[in-house]
Amino acid sequence: MAKSPSTVFVCSHCDAQFPKWSGRCAECGQWGTLVAQLKPAAASKTTAPAGRVQALHEISREPLTRLASGMREVDRTLGGGFVPGSIVLLGGDPGIGKSTLVLQIARGLAGQKQSVLYVSGEESAAQVGHRLRRLDPGQATIDFLGETNIETIIATIAKGRPNVVVIDSVQTMTTADAPAEAGSMTQVRAVTAKLMAAIKTTSTTAILIGHVTKEGAMAGPKALEHLVDVVLYLEGDKLSAYRLLRSVKNRFGPTADVGVFDMRERGLVEVVNPSRAWLADRQHAPGAVATIILEGSRPFAVEIQALTNPTVFGLPRRTAAGIDLNRLQLLIAVLTRRGGLPMSNHDVYVNVVGGLKISERSCDLAVCLAIASSFRDRAVAPDVLAIGEVGLGGEVRMVGHLDQRLREAASLGFARMIIPVGAKVKTPDRITVVPVATIADALQEFGAPTRGAKPRPA
Ligand code: TYD
Ligand code: MG
Repeated sequence: MAKSPSTVFVCSHCDAQFPKWSGRCAECGQWGTLVAQLKPAAASKTTAPAGRVQALHEISREPLTRLASGMREVDRTLGGGFVPGSIVLLGGDPGIGKSTLVLQIARGLAGQKQSVLYVSGEESAAQVGHRLRRLDPGQATIDFLGETNIETIIATIAKGRPNVVVIDSVQTMTTADAPAEAGSMTQVRAVTAKLMAAIKTTSTTAILIGHVTKEGAMAGPKALEHLVDVVLYLEGDKLSAYRLLRSVKNRFGPTADVGVFDMRERGLVEVVNPSRAWLADRQHAPGAVATIILEGSRPFAVEIQALTNPTVFGLPRRTAAGIDLNRLQLLIAVLTRRGGLPMSNHDVYVNVVGGLKISERSCDLAVCLAIASSFRDRAVAPDVLAIGEVGLGGEVRMVGHLDQRLREAASLGFARMIIPVGAKVKTPDRITVVPVATIADALQEFGAPTRGAKPRPA
């Protein structure tokens, strides 16, 4: 293909740009996807008139109006509700419950006299209607449109001017303007940009569903985060019923809050006290230790379980559910070298109860104590809790927001808290704080003798 100075070649799969045409995109490796396009600069050489400048302090101080869905955990995660004219992206793994959650939100909004248009490119009116019946629709009326063409959807929005439009999912939508397959980076971006331009003029709120995808043909929600106003992710372990709604971007409020749900027969049910729910079936058995993690700004109590077993053959097995496997291996090494627990011939399995995934290190100490407890076959008392990061030297390190964590622990009835030494905390009433400097100190605290450490007088 001949190249003129004003032409650029754009991959219809990944949106990469090249000065020269080639049969294969050097960025994503797809064949036959490069398409000639006019360079934007060359496309418009005319000078533009100056824009209208406004004084920010003169802009009215009216608070943002918000549309509350009536689902407490959703509204809280959003910082009070949906802002009219904004675009909200809800991402999550396929099958995690995005359509269910959005339908419940739509029902809630419709119940507050908001007109809602639910557009699906994945399911038929009958399927969505069926789900709504199962979720107990109440008095709510929701309009449905089965459509994948974004121009048709925009025309429908312009005609009906709904307060809220749901697009399920962005990866099924296409625009005639972008020469690429549905779900590709080019399509997904073009569709979102078109929709944004359209809803800003009608002050409709758009809720866009995006599937999180493994590297592949479909462009995931990550590719859209910079375009939209609010980004929410629905997360959870499919084998467990708990779902976390996390806000990772919010142009209208903080992103610190998370909502917790339980997936039931009739949809997602808000969990008012997640800590209590996660600690509900605790048993006084070796290998279980509670800790308090922080999700956003919310402290949650979770139980860490460990099981150790002599390795029968070959390399010891290490399995982690809910924490990072590399982190587990590191902690086992620290326990062996600094804690004096000979773990090198033991399989270790660690599990976070409730299917939660912990990404912070404040649970290190609890993981170590759970492993030691299983290894020694000695239970840790159920009212003991451990919080702290563990370093390679075996030192127990400070974690953030300790006061907040201890308050949550106190409200749940924990009595003894093993925490990093030197932590300046206001100790809640009826609580004994046990500061530890090293992992060996911590092991000793609940009575497991360690090599090189002298037992303390009782
Ligand atoms: P869905 O919302 O379709 O997931 P997504 O849109 O993220 O792909 O829901 C997926 C699962 O949720 C489905 O396998 C069945 C389950 N589910 C319930 O457990 N209870 C319910 O009330 C509904 C509607 C779904
Ligand atoms: Mg769905």
